[in-house]
Amino acid sequence: MPRIIAVCNQKGGVGKTTTVINIGACLAQLGARVLLVDVDPQANCTNGVGVDPRGLKHTLFDVLVQPDKFKIFRMEDIIIKTEWPNLDLVPGHPDLAGAELHLVRKIGRETLLRKTLEPVSRPYDYILIDTPPSLSLLTINALTAAQEVVIPSRAEPWSLDGIENLLDTMDAIREELNQPLRIAGIIVTILHERARLSKEIVKRAEQDERLRGRFFKTRIRRNIKLVESADRGIPVIHLAPESHGAKAFMALAKDLAGLDEPADTLPPEEPQTAENTAQQYDLVPVGDLS
Ligand SMILES: Nc1ncnc2c1ncn2[C@@H]1O[C@H](COP(=O)(O)OP(=O)(O)OP(=O)(O)O)[C@@H](O)[C@H]1O
Ligand SMILES: [Mg+2]
Repeated sequence: MPRIIAVCNQKGGVGKTTTVINIGACLAQLGARVLLVDVDPQANCTNGVGVDPRGLKHTLFDVLVQPDKFKIFRMEDIIIKTEWPNLDLVPGHPDLAGAELHLVRKIGRETLLRKTLEPVSRPYDYILIDTPPSLSLLTINALTAAQEVVIPSRAEPWSLDGIENLLDTMDAIREELNQPLRIAGIIVTILHERARLSKEIVKRAEQDERLRGRFFKTRIRRNIKLVESADRGIPVIHLAPESHGAKAFMALAKDLAGLDEPADTLPPEEPQTAENTAQQYDLVPVGDLS
């Protein structure tokens, strides 16, 4: 049976989708059979592997909501093979934004994803679920279907507050719906590696009682190739295999699969300066406003 991993953080823009696509593509490249499941109405994961959801007849919306009285949609009807071997996709769609309204009235509304994935899961080694930036019913479905959770987080002030809420939600889900759910680990993403502040935040987080020992050693630095990869719908391992983004995601995939010793891929620390603090937050240094 596959490992089913939900990638969650209700904070927006922390690298959830980038993590799903690129860990998925690296695992597939290593020979594992991988299914990506796009539970997010933004459908970024679908676009990110080169599939335009607007061109699809049926998506996850149809399977979860069953909008047609005369036809039953099953997961097997909507799975797409991407252009890369071993990498399949359950496509998301903007209509999923309206799915919540339909789902709240359904019996067993929290377990729909788990139940509909079950019949198709056998051929896969990994099922990676991309979730929206909220603790909505769609995210709860993902957390109920998964055995493990990967939490991407930026190294920025307040980024840890969101993790506390997620851990509370996971506690509730363990109690009511999915007892074996566990944290696979927290990934520090979009790290401006030379800024001392980021490192301090990570260090502090690593000392937090609930988070201690849960961080992946491999951290994802800022990398323009990852942005280009998202824009072009090509996983970074295929677009720019020599980039540090691709190498870091490959190290993470191997770490997750238990194939390699975890690698710390960060260069040495640099003193905090006005310039690198500004770079970290995409600010214009004060002297450069003209
Ligand atoms: N390591 C990185 N370096 C530079 N840019 C990155 C990196 N990781 C992600 N990004 C960019 O940051 C933005 C947010 O990333 P992503 O979409 O993966 O986050 P998300 O958590 O899925 O967002 P949302 O909460 O909206 O679903 C995207 O434009 C993405 O291309
Ligand atoms: Mg996303």
